[in-house]
Amino acid sequence: MPSDLQALQDEILKFKQEKNAIILAHNYQRDEVQDIADYVGDSLELSRTAATIDCAVIVFCGVHFMAESASILSPDKTVLLPEVEAGCPMADMISVDAPRPVRTSFPGFSNPPAFVYPAEFTLRDIKQKYPGVPVVAYVNTTAAVKAESDICCTSANVVKVVESLPGDSVICIPDKNLSLWAARNTNKKIIAWDGYCNIHERVTPEDVEQAKALHPGALVLAHPECRLDVLELADHVTSTSGMLRFAGSSDAREFIIGTEVGLMHRLRKENPDKLFHPLRKDMLCPNMKKTTLQSIRRAFRENSHVIKVPEAIRVPARRALDRMLDII
Ligand code: 13P
Ligand code: SF4
Repeated sequence: MPSDLQALQDEILKFKQEKNAIILAHNYQRDEVQDIADYVGDSLELSRTAATIDCAVIVFCGVHFMAESASILSPDKTVLLPEVEAGCPMADMISVDAPRPVRTSFPGFSNPPAFVYPAEFTLRDIKQKYPGVPVVAYVNTTAAVKAESDICCTSANVVKVVESLPGDSVICIPDKNLSLWAARNTNKKIIAWDGYCNIHERVTPEDVEQAKALHPGALVLAHPECRLDVLELADHVTSTSGMLRFAGSSDAREFIIGTEVGLMHRLRKENPDKLFHPLRKDMLCPNMKKTTLQSIRRAFRENSHVIKVPEAIRVPARRALDRMLDII
């Protein structure tokens, strides 16, 4: 290992001890960031860890809404997001009462989605249209949107969450693909929002057919943020950590992975005897890749960027997160 990399890692580990800090990293983070983290996981696992971990500082290597959730669940801790610009475009596709900015260009994407949600709608509009219908907010939402919702869900528990609610209808925001997946797997009427993840949305059924032709015999694992016509072709649909569990316990030796390519690192590390192929090589979330070892060091040195949710939003947002954490 080059000595400057070793020095950087050592410095981070020293800061961690000095500041009684824990590093949490999402499964999509860069390999070297995952390797230095105390916990690597999916959104649900990281929320649970943030709620229960004993430390003074959480350095959250992920995107903005994840650090917000950590702060909502652990308000007594300092939550640092090393890269303040690491956001989630899907989370920005819905706001409580301000129409979202129209995102008409997707720089760097070879296959941008054709669809752009009309900017004039807000969460309040949809709640007004369906009074009394419970709102399920995917964790990929801002704290303010969570605060206006009844319960949160992640890709790991959406079906259970939807089924836990009274009545026959549920409003699911903001991911239309996750909502369609929930609709397919429950008897509830799902009122969906037209948001999407532009990394998962770009995968087509043709991509799945091509990957299967290239790797006959491999099982296809897909994330529920993919389109429903893609999910219909998959052997297993699950969250990122669900894929790790499935691949680890399956007798199969070869898998096609339909999610962000950062997950490959853990899949390969934890299953050295198995083969993993990305469903598409360009399933790369630029926001997840913003965090580097250098930015983690800077976060410690400068105590940046502190993510703190105001109490008026934190308390109702926590209720929505706690309801989710209570049922699974
Ligand atoms: P999970 O890790 O919870 O499956 O979420 C994926 C994701 O896109 C997070 O932004
Ligand atoms: Fe958001 Fe998609 Fe990136 Fe996840 S992969 S953070 S949903 S843009």
